[in-house]
Amino acid sequence: EKRRILVCGGGNGAHCLSALAASKDNLDVHVLTLYQDEAERWAKHVENENMKLTITKQDGTQYDIFSKPSLITKDAAKAMSGVEIVFLVVPAFAHAQYFTAIAPHLQPNTLIVGLPGQAGFELQCRHIIGDKASSCTIAATESLPFACRIVEFGRHARILGLKDSLGMSALKGKACQLSFPVVETIQGILGEYPKLELLKNYIAINLMADANVHPPMMYGRWGNWDGKPLKEEPLFYQGVDDRQADLLSKVSEELLAAAKAIEQKRKDVDMSEVIHLFDWYKIHYPDQITDKSSLKMAMRTNKAYDGLVHPMVKTNEGYVPNFNYRYTSEDVPFGMVVMKGIADLAGVPTPAMDEILAWGQQKLGKEYIVGSKLIGKDIGLARAPQSFGMTSVDELFDI
Ligand code: NAI
Repeated sequence: EKRRILVCGGGNGAHCLSALAASKDNLDVHVLTLYQDEAERWAKHVENENMKLTITKQDGTQYDIFSKPSLITKDAAKAMSGVEIVFLVVPAFAHAQYFTAIAPHLQPNTLIVGLPGQAGFELQCRHIIGDKASSCTIAATESLPFACRIVEFGRHARILGLKDSLGMSALKGKACQLSFPVVETIQGILGEYPKLELLKNYIAINLMADANVHPPMMYGRWGNWDGKPLKEEPLFYQGVDDRQADLLSKVSEELLAAAKAIEQKRKDVDMSEVIHLFDWYKIHYPDQITDKSSLKMAMRTNKAYDGLVHPMVKTNEGYVPNFNYRYTSEDVPFGMVVMKGIADLAGVPTPAMDEILAWGQQKLGKEYIVGSKLIGKDIGLARAPQSFGMTSVDELFDI
């Protein structure tokens, strides 16, 4: 008997995951996409033919697979029928509408997976699906398992590369009894790579998200910018200066302090996966970094970051920074605001994050933080625990 899964979304990742999963004999794939007329267009393309998915393997060789979902719809009731695993494969700003759409149709013992989750995924999911959260398991990966692009909408997509390994957390509701193992089952859907690694708890992964890097980098570079356009796009990582490195380090120390304070309050929670950014780089890029003498030098000499530039917009006068790029637009409300909120619950002061957020929210035209408190009028649009009325560390874990 086939296990039915649902893929939510209609972009690059959703195309690849749905074609990949549909090619497995033991899976039946539904797709729910709520955006514009995506469902209609995609369904039409596969009426009489399969989708093509071109996969580049670890060794560089390519192969094609041909398969298709059995249903592509914008009707959540139809999409959810008989589904045991729901994958959300959309940018974080689009998660809420999918949680809202699937909530009425969620059966007990469903696995909900954020692929990727991004900070605050579990908190927002619990808030929207309400009491049903205790009979579900909410998992999230640290990133998308593959670098991928749509070649032709609804017809052809390409997996450009697979990661070697991918961290994932799973938050099990107290009344949830899944009939299958989480890691092995998702691994079976993805294939051999990336190798999934189960992380100890979801709060640790929330605190270690990429968003602890991007906003401090942006503020450090552009906080004192004179507004004059630049002739060239500045290097992002290779251009790190002392001010940026100092901000990154301070944020890391605040996150570590939050992790320690949570362990003090909850002896059952292991936060050892929260580590300083400098250590994180040394562990994750052992061979790519040529100068490990400091955080600044490690970032400047990491070959994996060769040539990456700041997000810029080209104008007639030159390049100006793009403050609507995901480094701020996503990594503030679905990143650093969440980290700040968790630190607040733990009772840890965060002057560095407060300063970065005050700047970032102003660039986004939002108000999340006032002074050092997450009481801004737009806090409901972010995903901090405070966005959902949470007031204690215990509430983070008691689901
Ligand atoms: P994408 O950019 O292809 O997603 C676009 C899809 O999101 C649209 O097709 C639509 O279904 C939905 N969408 C867009 N605007 C919407 C709106 N206003 N309202 C509702 N839905 C809307 O995203 P992609 O590339 O699939 O990535 C998914 C996540 O994975 C993102 O967070 C991305 O940063 C991350 N990621 C992507 C990688 C890649 O290679 N594509 C690599 C690593 C991470």
